[in-house]
Amino acid sequence: MEPLIELENVYIEIEGVPILSDICFTINRPELLLVLGPNGAGKTTLLKLIVGILKPSSGSVRVLGKDPYRDRSIRRLIGYTPQRERIDPRMPMLVRDVILMGRLLSKTPPRIITYEDEEEALDIARRLGVDKLWSEPYSHLSSGQQQKVLIARALASRPKILLLDEPFSAIDSPSIKDIIDMIREEYSKDVCIIVVLHDATPLIEYATKILLLNRRLIAYGDVEDTLDEKLLEETYMRPVHFYTRNGVKFMGGMDSHA
Ligand SMILES: Nc1ncnc2c1ncn2[C@@H]1O[C@H](COP(=O)(O)OP(=O)(O)OP(=O)(O)O)[C@@H](O)[C@H]1O
Ligand SMILES: [Mg+2]
Repeated sequence: MEPLIELENVYIEIEGVPILSDICFTINRPELLLVLGPNGAGKTTLLKLIVGILKPSSGSVRVLGKDPYRDRSIRRLIGYTPQRERIDPRMPMLVRDVILMGRLLSKTPPRIITYEDEEEALDIARRLGVDKLWSEPYSHLSSGQQQKVLIARALASRPKILLLDEPFSAIDSPSIKDIIDMIREEYSKDVCIIVVLHDATPLIEYATKILLLNRRLIAYGDVEDTLDEKLLEETYMRPVHFYTRNGVKFMGGMDSHA
């Protein structure tokens, strides 16, 4: 079996500035991977390399054995929720249209939305608590609501690989729970999920792998091996530790990032 994702000696510079160097890791089976690192660490850049929005300056990125930058067909297998995405407010798109766009783009031509597609998309909207907004203009939504709709759009494409960039920013606690439930359910269906976070707290107990990033790969591996105080301090450039309260693990020392 081909690895799901494989990065070899990836180096990328943007406008002559090195952003990520020497990134090597392989994901062989579906994981629930958390990518952790401070602001500016290159987390979003890493996801964009995997989706094929950016191409490495040197080294190679492979998704299911293919180069995602060159091979557009691979995009259909990846669901991606960007950290920030602005849909032009003059575009008269309803929430329904945005979510169904995910379904549509994952199809091969002729791309036709069926009754089943609509039912499935509505079900996803329900799971994320945005079904009541189905017929609302997307541009009228709050940023938290928009974020949930974009996650629903990524899910509607029935991805094999789901990439979520800071999915909890601007999200209230009940909705965080909806998103965590969704992530766990998709992972149980063998979807490989990569979540970028600067604070691992909400997902730490469910993660199967951790990647620590700060312009280079500091660690990639099992949770027990990577959540090491020394490695975390190297990543965040300040003391970071985990503590347990009422049986729940929290990441401490992150306050100034909140
Ligand atoms: N298009 C671009 N042009 C110039 N510099 C860029 C561009 N995109 C990213 N960078 C730079 O690359 C670095 C990494 O950015 P990236 O967005 O990947 O970090 P991040 O870890 O996602 O940060 P955050 O936690 O703030 O989202 C930053 O210093 C940023 O300024
Ligand atoms: Mg980012």
